[in-house]
Amino acid sequence: MNITVLGTGYVGLVSGVCLAQVGHNVLCLDLNERTVKSLNAGHPHIYEEGLDEMLKSVIQSGRFKASLVNDENIMSNDVFMIAVGTPSKEGRIDLGQIEAASKAIAQVIKKKNNRVTVLVKSTVVPGTTDTFVRNILIDQSGKAPSEFGLGMNPEFLREGNAIRDFMEPDRVVLGFEDQQTLEILESIYRPWKVDKIRCNTRTAEMIKYANNFFLALQISAANEVANLCYNIGNIDPLNVIKGVISDKRWSPIEDSQKRYVPEITTYLTPGCGFGGSCFPKDVEAIRTLQQEVGLVPRMAQAVLDVNKEQPSMVVTGLKQVLGSLKGIKVLVLGLAFKPDTDDIRESAGIKIAKELISVGAQVSCHDPVAAANIQKNEPELATILIDDWISGLEQADVIVIATKWKDYSILQSKQLTPKIREKVIFDCRRMLNAESFPESKYLSIGCNFK
Ligand code: UDX
Repeated sequence: MNITVLGTGYVGLVSGVCLAQVGHNVLCLDLNERTVKSLNAGHPHIYEEGLDEMLKSVIQSGRFKASLVNDENIMSNDVFMIAVGTPSKEGRIDLGQIEAASKAIAQVIKKKNNRVTVLVKSTVVPGTTDTFVRNILIDQSGKAPSEFGLGMNPEFLREGNAIRDFMEPDRVVLGFEDQQTLEILESIYRPWKVDKIRCNTRTAEMIKYANNFFLALQISAANEVANLCYNIGNIDPLNVIKGVISDKRWSPIEDSQKRYVPEITTYLTPGCGFGGSCFPKDVEAIRTLQQEVGLVPRMAQAVLDVNKEQPSMVVTGLKQVLGSLKGIKVLVLGLAFKPDTDDIRESAGIKIAKELISVGAQVSCHDPVAAANIQKNEPELATILIDDWISGLEQADVIVIATKWKDYSILQSKQLTPKIREKVIFDCRRMLNAESFPESKYLSIGCNFK
């Protein structure tokens, strides 16, 4: 199938490249000339494991091309996938880019005799495709709704794992408003032999939001339990969580007596909170949507409230052990919102570093991949970034691990012991073994051992 993807951001590019990989011909359109040039040269402008090689391979096969949006390019295919950004603006999603993309496609619908199909992939609140997008397409093309196809096909891509998530999905959601669109969605996703959920577009939109809401809910629930453990004292919240997930309703015991531990349990690690481009924005959008339809957003509000406070648990915990943090030298390890990405949006590490600065600590920071983004977007932290974190250990009184980068696990190795002797290690992500630090003070979220 020939597909035009609008937007070469994280979702559009990964989707376009993966669709080309399974045999479709994909044209990715973008407004930025530099991005288009670099993509056609085989260089993705975002960091995502495996994307570089796959992009090069689909360009070589002739099945992938990037191009600027112009009158000629936009006319070439009949199937459009809208994968533009829907950033958060005052708790609502900003539909500006969806509007622009819909208007551009409406011009194609107006001029073409062939039936055009429009599939929304961007995360949009329920009702957006069958009202907002549909109305623009009707108004700007002058055609009746029956004259074009309309669908919604949400993505469930985790940054750092996006290629695998696209190529080996858990399920594919095919939201459609007309039978022909369903048939097109079926042929696009024929290579994937997984559960397919066929539904109307607003159900598809809701699945995406509810999915992220449930995941964010697990994180905030585990963090709330951890905070309670902290206030009671002498309880390790990680052991509490281990005890909880050993309930066979969380981790079933199969016939062979082997326990199957589902991935959802990885969202229950007590920590310094979630970040990224999805969870915070999607839960905020749910909260706003609930208010707009006259509901009180109790759970969504609680998930956000817990998450907002969570990075502060580091300063709280350190103050309890050290008293004032004025002049204390702290090395914050990890500024990306999670490992294997350079994305720093809503990163807990950044919030922790800034709060430490605000209470007078002398902070330095490190991230193995996100440093360039920090230089560009976080002037306050750019000047205190260091390249060599292992040398930085010697100068620090406190080492805070805010992102679970594998590199930092070598803190447990014997050869680093002299560098961290008698220092405080605050492991916000529970990635290290407390027993590996007999000569240091090991702290983590929720642990308050007197
Ligand atoms: C998420 C969804 O998982 C994905 O399906 C959706 O399409 C986009 O949003 P992503 O934002 O890449 O993906 O992040 P994910 O790996 O799910 O983790 C999100 C955040 O939760 C990270 O900041 C991580 O540090 C945090 N987290 C995770 C916790 O704070 N505690 C945990 O126990 C697990």
